[in-house]
Amino acid sequence: MAGALEGRIAIVTGGGGGLAEGICARLAADGAAIAAVDVSQEKAERVAGQVRSDGARAVAFEADVSDKRSVEAMVERVARELGGVDILVNNAAVYPRRAWTEIEEEEWDRVMAVNLKGYFLCARAVYPYMRERGRGNIVNVASITFFIGWTLLMDYVASKGGIVGFTRTLAREVGPDNINVNAIAPGAFPTDAEKIHPDQEGYNRWVLEQQSIKRRGTPEDIGNLVAFLASDASSFITGQTIGIDGGWMMR
Ligand SMILES: NC(=O)c1ccc[n+]([C@@H]2O[C@H](COP(=O)([O-])OP(=O)(O)OC[C@H]3O[C@@H](n4cnc5c(N)ncnc54)[C@H](O)[C@@H]3O)[C@@H](O)[C@H]2O)c1
Repeated sequence: MAGALEGRIAIVTGGGGGLAEGICARLAADGAAIAAVDVSQEKAERVAGQVRSDGARAVAFEADVSDKRSVEAMVERVARELGGVDILVNNAAVYPRRAWTEIEEEEWDRVMAVNLKGYFLCARAVYPYMRERGRGNIVNVASITFFIGWTLLMDYVASKGGIVGFTRTLAREVGPDNINVNAIAPGAFPTDAEKIHPDQEGYNRWVLEQQSIKRRGTPEDIGNLVAFLASDASSFITGQTIGIDGGWMMR
């Protein structure tokens, strides 16, 4: 699919994270210019630097997706410096792990602000640019945890369920503008997110037992799916949440 995204400009939020590495690398390999956006400039720069060292175009921007002004300034800067916005990958998230009776109100609000409101704010901010272009692709990263009802992650799981609903309504709202909106629901991938589990070896074994495919997923697997959903090859698919979990959850 080399060249499928030639000339397109992609914003990847949480762009300094583990899965973002695979997403940015693959979108860039297909020809897109990348804006890796993260609350940590250092992390975003590391990923953008990797993409550049592979010979593609990438910049790192610091922004907090839960802050409207920060998001609007970031999108405006991407459009000005890279020349527009064609693709948004809403991927930034926080995932505190604790018993639901120990979740404080502040934590609940923070998780919703980053994981759910952040997706809305970014979509709102890129919408005028996509409408102007006459097309666009938005990919929202949800999670298998919503479908399972994962314990010890209640606020996170609720936010990920919200993303599935947000994806469906947004797809109907912007379909007439030729903008496709889909979500992906990753299973368990060995990124920083996984370090929240206390017994790493036991967790790894358990994940492989759940999956039909007996290897761990990689950021490259995620990149492959996101690149498809960001391309014209998926132009008749919208409002969907696609599982990517090695055949774990089947619905
Ligand atoms: N790794 C997994 O197993 C897994 C499974 C299912 C879903 N997911 C989802 O995939 C996405 C990426 O997760 P990951 O595993 O790469 O985690 P990660 O922690 O490596 O990456 C998340 C990134 O988001 C950034 N971020 C946090 N708050 C932010 C904010 N307010 N504004 C901007 N950036 C912010 C972090 O700095 C980090 O770089 C998340 O949406 C996560 O929920 C991951």
